Parts: sequence; C-alpha cells; structure tokens
Amino acid sequence: MLPKHIAIIMDGNGRWAQARGYPRFYGHLRGSNRVKEIVREARKIGIPALTLYAFSTENWKRPEDELSVLWRTLQKYIRRQIGDMKKNGIRLHVIGEMERLPADVQTELKNAMNELKNENKMILTFALSYGSRAEILNAVKLISKECMAGTISPDQITDKEFEKHLWTSPLGENSDVDLMIRTSGEKRLSNYLLWQASYAEFDFPEIFWPDYSVEEFHKSLENFSNRKRRFGAV
Ligand code: FPP
Repeated sequence: MLPKHIAIIMDGNGRWAQARGYPRFYGHLRGSNRVKEIVREARKIGIPALTLYAFSTENWKRPEDELSVLWRTLQKYIRRQIGDMKKNGIRLHVIGEMERLPADVQTELKNAMNELKNENKMILTFALSYGSRAEILNAVKLISKECMAGTISPDQITDKEFEKHLWTSPLGENSDVDLMIRTSGEKRLSNYLLWQASYAEFDFPEIFWPDYSVEEFHKSLENFSNRKRRFGAV
C-alpha cells in the first residue's frame, strides 16, 4: 500500500559537501535537485501529501552566508518549478513562522501559493522556520481563545477539532503522517510534526540527502509496504 502523507527530513547536505571537499552551500544546491526529483516522483505515483523539512527554527543559528544561499536556492526552486507544479496539479503550502523569513522570500512564496491554490492532485508543504512545539502551542492558544469566546466548550475539543488549528489543517484527512523519512543516518524527530507523526512508520536511509535518488525513494516506499500497521490494535 502507498502512504498518503510522506514527511521527509532532508538531512546531510552539509556533510555531503564537506566529504567531497566542497563548501557546505554546494550541498544545498545539489539537495534542491533531489527535491525536484522526489516531488515529481511522488506526484507521478499518486502520493496526495508530501511535507519537506527545509528549515527548522534552530537553523537560524547558521552563518549568514549559508542562510542567504538557502533562501536564494528556495526562491530559485519556486521560480523554476511553479510551471511544472501547475501543470501537474500540485498545490503549495508552507508551515512555520513565515513572518520571520526575508521579505522577498515571503512574497515569492505567497505569490506561488496563490497561483497554485486551486490545484488538488497533491499538496506539497515546505516546513520553513518550523518547530512542532510552536505549532502545537499556537493551536492551544487559538482554541483557548475560542473557549473563552464561548464558541466551543473544552469538552468538544476532540483530536479532529484540535487538528483544525494546526498549521497542517489544509491537508485535511491526510494530515496524519504515514511515512517519515530522515536521511543521513540520524534517528531523531527534531521537533518535526510531533502530533501528525503519532502513528507514522519510520525509515532512516544511511545516505545524505543529495544522494537520495528516486531509486532510494522507492526503497523507502517498499520498506513501508512491508510494515504491518496495527494502530495499537492486535
Ligand atoms: C539539512 O542538511 C538540510 C537543510 C537544513 C536544508 C534543506 C534544504 C534543501 C534540501 C535545499 C533547498 C530547499 C528547497 C525546498 C528547494 P544540513 O545542512 O543540516 O546537513 P548537515 O547535517 O550535514 O550539516
């Protein structure tokens, strides 16, 4: 069976570059080519939701020149791929503190999201300046305000009701992650989709993100299809 929602932590760009004697930023450039290939493949095989961790709240601690390469790479990616995304019915969504991103990057993202807002074959989400605890806290605040305004009572707060307040709410019935992939051999969730990944299957390919090819993606999918998912039942 195919997963409906795949989330990926694209880890190891810097190490990939350093191991080859290149500056770290070159790993991000090569990494963005992989983003393009994996997005295309996911769409081709009919995955309805793909969420990519492109920048965590901790990543702000990186040197200014690396940050600048990351933002330019993202902008270039959007500019070059928007036509392809439109043609293939891919909607764009962003989760995270978008207001912290450089103004021109925000504009680029907002324009692209607007341009692609009616696409409905796949939803591609970029997690940018994202942290899961911040997302959950934000949802708690929103729902507390609704309780205080009397539009909902605390007893009415179910899983489904709560999820409507998470940044992933546009994913609707696909917001639960089925398959979580982290490249580079690290086996951590790093504050990524903590609520949404409650029942996810995990795959940890021992390669850096710039080496994560379509073939490797299919290996992850095959690992997933061999798992027996019981969701707590027997
Ligand atoms: C992790 O590798 C990767 C990132 C922090 C950025 C991911 C960005 C891209 C794949 C390219 C641009 C993104 C898009 C969406 C087009 P790392 O730098 O933490 O590697 P390291 O752990 O080896 O240092």
